[in-house]
Formats: sequence, C-alpha cells, structure tokens
Amino acid sequence: MSHYKAKFASFGMHVPKKVVNNFDLEKIVDTTDEWIRTRTGMFERHHCTKDEAATDIAVVAATKAIESSQVKYKDIDLIITATVTGDYNFPSASCILQKRLGLGRIPAFDISAGCTGFVYALDMAKQYVENGTKQNVLVTGVDILTKITNWKDRGTCVLFGDGAGSTIVTRAERSDISEIMDSITFADGSLGDLLIQEGGGSRRPASHETVDQNLHTIYMEGNKIYRHAIKSMQASTEELLKRNKMTARDVDWVIPHQANLRIIEGLADKLRVPMDKVIVNIEKYGNTSSATIPMAMAEAVGSSKIRRGDIILLTSFGAGLTWGSILARY
Ligand code: ACO
Repeated sequence: MSHYKAKFASFGMHVPKKVVNNFDLEKIVDTTDEWIRTRTGMFERHHCTKDEAATDIAVVAATKAIESSQVKYKDIDLIITATVTGDYNFPSASCILQKRLGLGRIPAFDISAGCTGFVYALDMAKQYVENGTKQNVLVTGVDILTKITNWKDRGTCVLFGDGAGSTIVTRAERSDISEIMDSITFADGSLGDLLIQEGGGSRRPASHETVDQNLHTIYMEGNKIYRHAIKSMQASTEELLKRNKMTARDVDWVIPHQANLRIIEGLADKLRVPMDKVIVNIEKYGNTSSATIPMAMAEAVGSSKIRRGDIILLTSFGAGLTWGSILARY
C-alpha cells in the first residue's frame, strides 16, 4: 500500500534549431521523400550541431517543465534522466543537469533503457514519490541519436532526430484528480543484439579498429524490431488496463513512442483505439528515442489537447529490448 499519490505537475520540451527534411536526406543517402513518408510517417527532424550535446537541450526542456509547474527549484529533490547519449559516458547527464539548473546536492542518476527510458524513469519516480522518499522528481528523456548514426545506412539514418522532454513528478493530495495510477515495465535481453551500439563499452573499447568497423554507430535490425514493437506495446498496455479494471475505451489519449507511424497505427488498430485519440508528432521530429513521449506530452498539454482529468496511456519499446506502459489521470 503506497503512502502517497504521484502526479505529473507539468511538461516541457526542446529541440535543436537545425531542421533536416526528407529532401535534405535524399542528398546524403539513396532514399526518397516518398519512401520515408510512406514507410515511417516522418517528414522532418531536428539535428544538433557539432557543438551541441544532450544537456544543452535537456536543460531548456527541464527549465520549461519547472517554470510551468508550481514547484520551486529548491524543492526538487531527485533527478532522473533517461538517455543513451549523455554528454559523456560519465559523469551522468543528471549530474550535469543538476549543476546547470543550480539545484542543490540532491541525488541524480541516469537510466539506460533505450527508447523505453522515459517510461522506466517514470516508473521509478512514481515509486520514490509514493513511498514518501521524494516529493518532486525532475524526469527527463533526452537523446542525440544523430551523433551515433551511421550516415551510410539508409535503413537507420533517416529515422532519428534529436530532442528532449521533461516532466516534474510530484506528490498529489489524496483529493487531487490527477494521479499516475500504475506502471508496468519489461525487458528481454535475449533480443539485445537487434539494436546495439557495440563500440565504446568495456567489451569493445574505442580503438582505431572499432572506428574503422563503424562500431560506434547504431546497428539495428529494423523489421525484426517492428514485429516486436506492436506486440510488446499491445501486451503491456492490455495487462496494465486489465489489472486496473479498465479497457482501451476508458482511455482519452494514447501517447505512444514515435518510432514509425505504421507501428503507431498498428498498435491503435490492435487496441481498437481510433487514431484521433492517439497523439502523433512523428512527422515533425522523427524518432527522438527517450524524448518522444515527453515531447508529445509537452505539445499536447501545451495546446490544451490533453487536459487535467483526462485518462492517458503512455507506451514505449526500445533497445534492450525493453518495453512498458504508464496509466495516469493527467
Ligand atoms: N530509403 C529507401 N529504401 C530503403 C530505406 C530508405 N531510407 N531504408 C530501407 N530501404 C529499403 C531496404 O533496403 C529494402 O530494400 P530491398 O527490398 O530492395 O532489400 C526495402 O526498403 C524494405 O526494407 P525493410 O527494412 O523491410 O523496410 P520496412 O518497411 O521494414 O521499414 C523501418 C524499415 C522503417 C526501419 C521499419 O522496419 C521500422 O520502423 N522498424 C522499427 C524500427 C524501430 O522502431 N527502431 C527503433 C526502436 S528503439 C528506438 O526507437 C531507438
């Protein structure tokens, strides 16, 4: 039995200035605007410049989330950042964010769960708040996948964009209508090789050889992941709804990971949710990994599409492989 309820206080997002559209990509690899649009639903995405790193955009998203909430900087007591492309292997992006936001000596750590990172981070933040250990957790999803993209691989390089999204998970009053009701997370490490950055870790530390073999960029078996994506998001969503005695009909908004419009439509079809209840912004940002869900939330809340009291369902899948879902009343 949890002592307290957790809720979303606010959301904020930020993307780098540079916009790259499908026609720009036609000049880099053997692809077409038509292929990218019809196979993925993407049209443009934002890329960091050579000098921009993860916390440069995360700090803006976090600032927007904090300033659009009632929470004061001094009352934030934990930072969790979901990323696989922090500024450095260490220290963590969360520790850098703590310094850049001028926060106190509060604990700060990153989690690595690929594109499911934000869902994993929310799952943790919720528990810290519910058990009373923390009251205001800054949760950010940020990824700069364009820095680890193989620009010769047309199967991956057209998909990714850079971005950051943040939320404050805060303690809710018992009487509050808003609540993060439940969360569920999974992993299947036996599928880890389907999406991997092999070089740079302790197994294949950076060397001339790893650079020559292109091991510092993303390797992905796209169509195997595609099949897993719909199944895993459907299964975690249905299990979560079932144990809360709800069905997809009770959900006002589904906010899925934005990896491919066809995956999103396939999921909506399986859940029997009409597409006008699904938040989609993939055409503008591409796949920003752990940032897609908080960015979609920030836009939907910012435009008042999602309002206080709406039932929302966040669901994601990613490297690991990992997947999971969050059920909340915004
Ligand atoms: N432009 C033109 N043709 C292309 C391109 C491109 N950019 N990329 C691939 N093709 C070609 C392939 O070479 C292949 O050609 P062939 O038939 O002559 O061999 C053809 O298109 C079909 O390739 P598939 O890989 O079968 O294409 P598919 O319809 O599966 O789409 C895609 C590929 C978009 C990668 C899809 O499989 C997908 O979205 N998978 C999920 C990937 C994903 O979500 N990854 C992220 C998960 S974790 C995270 O978000 C970081």
